Amino acid sequence: MSTGKVDALLGIVFGDEGKGKVVDVFTPRYDIVARFAGGPNAGHTIIFDGKKFVLRSIPSGIFDTGKLNIIGNGCVIAPDLFMAEAQELGNAGYDLRSRLHISRRAHLILPTHRVLDRAYEAAKGKQKVGTTGKGIGPTYSDKASRTGLRAGDILQDDFHSKYEALKARHQQILADLHYTDYDISQEEALWMQGIQYMKQYPITDTEFEINQALDDGKNVLAEGAQGTMLDIDHGTYPYVSSSNTCTGGVCTGLGVAPGKIGEVFGIFKAYSTRVGSGPFPVELFDQTGDKIREIGHEYGAVTGRNRRCGWIDLVALRYAIMINGVTQLIMMKSDVLDTFETIRACVAYEKGNQRTTTMPYDTSGWQPVYEDIPGWQTDLTQITTPEQFPEAFQNYVNYLENTLERPITIVSVGPDRAQTIEMN
Ligand code: GDP
Ligand code: IMO
Ligand code: MG
Repeated sequence: MSTGKVDALLGIVFGDEGKGKVVDVFTPRYDIVARFAGGPNAGHTIIFDGKKFVLRSIPSGIFDTGKLNIIGNGCVIAPDLFMAEAQELGNAGYDLRSRLHISRRAHLILPTHRVLDRAYEAAKGKQKVGTTGKGIGPTYSDKASRTGLRAGDILQDDFHSKYEALKARHQQILADLHYTDYDISQEEALWMQGIQYMKQYPITDTEFEINQALDDGKNVLAEGAQGTMLDIDHGTYPYVSSSNTCTGGVCTGLGVAPGKIGEVFGIFKAYSTRVGSGPFPVELFDQTGDKIREIGHEYGAVTGRNRRCGWIDLVALRYAIMINGVTQLIMMKSDVLDTFETIRACVAYEKGNQRTTTMPYDTSGWQPVYEDIPGWQTDLTQITTPEQFPEAFQNYVNYLENTLERPITIVSVGPDRAQTIEMN
């Protein structure tokens, strides 16, 4: 009997690589699309037929209406935001009620988790993480502390008493922090509406559904959120998110065994960005950084913040390829570099007389060492086949493939679904 596989599509840098776009493009090849980590801190943009959608908790496979989508046990979900997101999609003609399943084991983000997120950030002062403010860290903390509420609890008789107990616990922590300037009454009413709304969706044992589908020879695409450098274990700790965003997170976040993992697609931009605080050795503070931000529209999809910009970081990419077992690479936003005479690639970090080509424990204070590659100075956005790429662009692809020792199988040349080139 041939069993199906779970292919993973993972951001391998600091998030916002373009995961949503490629998951949408890949969905016709799969039976199920599943999110395994994160929550509404994610913002995944999909553009087709002149329409733009930004998904936060809902998987990017929902525009192919014949496919099942799953919010896995490794995710955290905010009922009010979920309701708003799903209703907006409903209004646009995408009713998800029968084809989006939510794991019973996914943890709920309470209004007080979001207040805690703000309170912890305020207490950290200059050391703040620059979180998305969606309550992600406090929710995963409650999960690890074994005090969290899960989606499956919604269907239990004692849900309201469990909710009140957890809220009281959070209020006590906030009082201890002297963080009293908050009012959740409106938010809480909406949140409770969200709880009722969620009951219209199958809240199920998704690990059984996924494994049964694999046994039936079906294939699953695991949609990553954030990126490897924001992974709680492998990222630039403590400036990270609070879940495992890497391949290991696919196994724990969906309940699938490592042997079921097939291809691991590592997705990155032709340059680097980061949103929020934390070390970023390739960050450009000059006009080149501003130019990349402007051409690439590098402003956060969730928070609208400026994304920090820099050249591609091969030290980080090599590390992420190792951690995730990446089998194929996907390069996004190539068109953003169309007008640059020279492209730079960071091949090592230097600090004083130290030099490293592997990811150091502490990534702060390092300076990038660059190699220069001639730019292609050609508009790539209208290209439809790999043969049409200018030689200088093909040289950049070859350079990256040789350095990273993985094939680049997809190149993206614009935000639209159609601007996606499969390489030979
Ligand atoms: P995600 O979080 O990984 O799904 O990525 P985001 O949606 O946060 O950010 C990617 C941004 O780049 C979105 O605004 C996309 O519409 C846009 N985008 C994706 N691919 C391309 C591309 O090849 N070229 C350009 N110019 N924009 C792209
Ligand atoms: P997608 O899936 C980029 C960043 C935040 C902050 C840190 C912790 O769209 O790629 P959190 O709210 O998770 O506690 O914030 O992680 N961050 C992201 N940056 N893309 C994302 O998601 C992100 N999700 C979280 O900016 O630095
Ligand atoms: Mg994003």
